[in-house]
Amino acid sequence: MPEELTVEGLPAAALARRFGTPLFVYSRAAILDRLTRLRRAFARPGTAICYALKANPNQAVCRVLCATGAGAEVVSGGELARALAAGFAPRSIVFSGVGKTEAEMDLGLRRGILTFNVESCEELLALERAARRRRRPAPFSVRLNPDVRARTHPHVTTGRAENKFGVEAPQALEMARRGRRSRWLDFQGLHCHIGSQIHDLGPFARAAAAVAEVLRRLQAEGIAFSLVDMGGGLGVSCGAEPELDCARLAQALEREFSPWPQARLLVEPGRYLVAGAGLLLARVLYRKETSRRRFVIVDAAMNDLARPSLYGAFHPIAPARPRKGPRRRVDVVGPVCESGDFLARQRLLPPLQPGDIVAVGMAGAYGFSMSSQYNSRPRAAEVLVEGGKARLTRRRETVDDIVLPEL
Ligand code: LLP
Repeated sequence: MPEELTVEGLPAAALARRFGTPLFVYSRAAILDRLTRLRRAFARPGTAICYALKANPNQAVCRVLCATGAGAEVVSGGELARALAAGFAPRSIVFSGVGKTEAEMDLGLRRGILTFNVESCEELLALERAARRRRRPAPFSVRLNPDVRARTHPHVTTGRAENKFGVEAPQALEMARRGRRSRWLDFQGLHCHIGSQIHDLGPFARAAAAVAEVLRRLQAEGIAFSLVDMGGGLGVSCGAEPELDCARLAQALEREFSPWPQARLLVEPGRYLVAGAGLLLARVLYRKETSRRRFVIVDAAMNDLARPSLYGAFHPIAPARPRKGPRRRVDVVGPVCESGDFLARQRLLPPLQPGDIVAVGMAGAYGFSMSSQYNSRPRAAEVLVEGGKARLTRRRETVDDIVLPEL
């Protein structure tokens, strides 16, 4: 008989009762455990782990990470502001994204971030203009598109030539040369991120080889660099697929970049740090059967966790309390008015009753951060458990939160 589901010793069902559902619950200990694993894997001195805020920008989660000296990777002015508010040191923040506005560049320059990961020549010129206006040279790295297949979902693969991200090697070199010529640009190195939820080492190794090739050419031209940022994308296990072995990844990267010990290695994991540290708790509302399917209707939906609907992603799901009886194949669906609204399909679950709590696992990354108010559903509350104590870190939205901003 499976045990009652707990988070750092607190029963999930009691958390649902106390804070209501749908509810995201995160464990501080679980986040720190993942960070420790990564730190152990990356032995090269000076390596920085820059947490990709997009996975989960909740301030309490950010604070857990920045308190231990992690850096941050951001992709908008909003994420930059949230990283700064949480206490990440500006010199530990890298700013990526293909469409940074001048206002966003200004904020980064004003606060003195570590580097802008620049993704096009036109963006580099805009950054140069922003730097000239502020009379402060802009640190930048060039995002290389290595044209590598990451073998992940097409929506989250970013390192192919047909993707909008980064530039190809000749342009990357051209941008580095421009950096050398301009007094308002300060070239730092290369950036590369080939996609998300990648399970094998091969794509990372091929991307690292492509980055090393450009580094060799920079070196041949006498262009100095101090950063090599290999992005995030470290795959976690949600079901059958194995987790990416971060120790082997670290070894492969460290070997590839060993000719340049002066350069700091950066990695930008999001999912790896927080996915497994989070649960989404939902309450069973109703059950129904058609001639073809059994449905369990719960109070969380695709607006709370979009990943199953959007990517066909598999998330483990289980009752918070053990339930007796024969297991049956069911679809766990939400109240949103779309057939694409489901959390789990054709899963073997024990009998569930209205009022029961179910827990969706691996929900700490790209869960709340991708949630919406679709169908005018207020967004869920978030709770952080630390040292066996639960604390509300984001209050549940109300219908007023939806209606009042409208004029
Ligand atoms: N660095 C850059 C430049 C990125 O674009 C991303 C993710 C990361 C780091 C972090 O990747 P991670 O380590 O979390 O895989 N919504 C999708 C994932 C989109 C990822 C976008 N970029 C999902 O739910 O699977």
